[in-house]
Amino acid sequence: MADRIQPPIEFETPRLRLRQWLESDLAPFAALAADPQVMAFLLPVATRADSDALAERFKARIAASGWGFWAVEHKDSGEFAGFTGLNAPLAALPFSPCVEIGWRFARKWWGQGLATEAARGALQIGFERLGLDEIVAFTALGNLRSAAVMERLGMREDAAGAFDHPAVPEGHALRRHRLFRIGRPQQR
Ligand SMILES: CC(C)(COP(=O)(O)OP(=O)(O)OC[C@H]1O[C@@H](n2cnc3c(N)ncnc32)[C@H](O)[C@@H]1OP(=O)(O)O)[C@@H](O)C(=O)NCCC(=O)NCCS
Repeated sequence: MADRIQPPIEFETPRLRLRQWLESDLAPFAALAADPQVMAFLLPVATRADSDALAERFKARIAASGWGFWAVEHKDSGEFAGFTGLNAPLAALPFSPCVEIGWRFARKWWGQGLATEAARGALQIGFERLGLDEIVAFTALGNLRSAAVMERLGMREDAAGAFDHPAVPEGHALRRHRLFRIGRPQQR
């Protein structure tokens, strides 16, 4: 399923379009990555080149498998707001193999329920189109806004599953992560 070349899955929610990345997303994505408040609980994206490369990786994964971290466009304005989607983490995590759901929005789009709306759409794609049995989410301990999205989605915290993220250096304040899980609707 994940490794076949497929046309990109793209979809809409009431206020948002989740789609393949465009060249015009790169500048607003770099601006978001340069905002210390957006990046407070994430490892830094140091340069514009790093931000472009990250977007390129997201785009390549969607091109290869049909799904991934989609660019999120605000339908009314046509503006790029951030990304949301599904990802098979490259790092070996204690609960691998897994598919995670994740999100990152520019600050001007916070506080409107947009991350939860985009993520609900992505969960639906994961369960109904990709046939996943479970989707996980994880976040650094202090990232209460992100954990609140997980809770709003109906994800359950696996308290025993808290883990040190192997991509975060030992001793770094963001190393310890909380783990949340959600199963296919009929299994809940
Ligand atoms: C994590 C992140 C996506 C959460 O964004 P968010 O806007 O707080 O989350 P939601 O989309 O669920 O919005 C919920 C808020 O919108 C409010 N809201 C307003 N209108 C709403 C509506 N129509 N529907 C739902 N909620 C609405 C809710 O009351 C809630 O407000 P609160 O934060 O004051 O409690 C955002 O903070 C972010 O991009 N952070 C930086 C990147 C990051 O850390 N990513 C996660 C890494 S694990």
